[in-house]
Amino acid sequence: MAQRASAGIRAAKRTEGIVYAVRDIVALAQETAKTGKEMLYLNIGDPNKFDFETPPHLIEAVIKALRDNQNGYSPSSGIASALEAIEAEAARNGIRNILDVFVTSGGSEAIEICLSALVERGEGVLIPYPGYPLYEAVLAKLEAQPEPYYLDEENGWQPDIEDIRRKIGPKTRAIVLINPNNPTGAVYAEGALREILQLARSRGLVVFADEIYDKMILDGKKHVSIASLDPDAPVITFNGLSKGFLAPGWRIGWGVVSGRQAELKGYDAAVNKILRARLCASHPMQHAIKPALEGQKAFLQSTIKKLRRRRDITFEMLNAEGISCVRPEAAFYAFPKLDIPVPDEAFVKDMIRETGVVAVHGSGFGEKPGTKHLRAVFLPQEHQLRKAYASLLEFLRKRRA
Ligand SMILES: Cc1ncc(COP(=O)(O)O)c(C=O)c1O
Repeated sequence: MAQRASAGIRAAKRTEGIVYAVRDIVALAQETAKTGKEMLYLNIGDPNKFDFETPPHLIEAVIKALRDNQNGYSPSSGIASALEAIEAEAARNGIRNILDVFVTSGGSEAIEICLSALVERGEGVLIPYPGYPLYEAVLAKLEAQPEPYYLDEENGWQPDIEDIRRKIGPKTRAIVLINPNNPTGAVYAEGALREILQLARSRGLVVFADEIYDKMILDGKKHVSIASLDPDAPVITFNGLSKGFLAPGWRIGWGVVSGRQAELKGYDAAVNKILRARLCASHPMQHAIKPALEGQKAFLQSTIKKLRRRRDITFEMLNAEGISCVRPEAAFYAFPKLDIPVPDEAFVKDMIRETGVVAVHGSGFGEKPGTKHLRAVFLPQEHQLRKAYASLLEFLRKRRA
């Protein structure tokens, strides 16, 4: 048989829109590290890469599950003890009308499944700019349209309600809220949440509430679950063990579907079809969910204490000539604005090569045209943060001269 000349295996077009700046910057950092330069990483949103450890009672629960041969498949939605604990936690957060709860491989899988079950090719989903890039990547895969709305830097990075109102179009199906936000560290005011809910309800949109950082509130500001504000609004709330419970590598997350049953049941059935098709989330790891949500939380206080100190250093040092930063209220991210003559991507890449300080450019998260930022992760220890910020500031000063 004649051999057909091959130009290589053709990749699907839908992958062309998948950009994931957070991981893409890693390749450049690795290249730079090979040259022997000392590296300072402000790009890794993984607490376990720094001085934070998974609480022992969660580890014990998983070890027990492994020893008890809880190593087969679990039900597709997750094990009963985990589902009960998630539902009880949602109820404690004021969420009523809970229609369904399911466990997934990280919050990421819950987000992907819920988007996949909702949007047709060409339909749109409102996503925050700046925001976590997973949403845009999944929408590219689904050949759906990301519809960015802006968060308002002048207003502590609160959602710009008027912009949301303007951006809702005939094909919009859902609105994504990341609260607390990655990459800004903002916690949303209840008033803004109420307005968004009202908009969503009047336009028949589902709200995707990503609350993966809700345990990491640094100054005692109250985090409000948007689903708690209206039991009739169709909301999927996402959470998991990755951030607040310091176990991102376990890949355990979940979704809570709330709202009116009559409105949601067809959609929820579609979500469950996808859940069944991928069998289940890692079974032994699910045994940590109940102890996480119902066990001791002392580790959280020490986590927050460390993060608060590191946030303060970040806020102090990243407000200087050519750089200004809104004070992060939660999580471990800051999103300072840069006054520089070049695009932020070029600035950050040069900074990595020249100083070994690794951060992600603001354009990787979406930003208002004409503005420039970078995202700094303040998980490293205080002395490392100070050193990294000093190099960053020195590099900035030279670039602005
Ligand atoms: C806002 C946000 N949502 C979801 C995720 C994904 O979390 P998981 O590890 O549970 O998949 C992240 C991870 O960084 C995140 O920042």
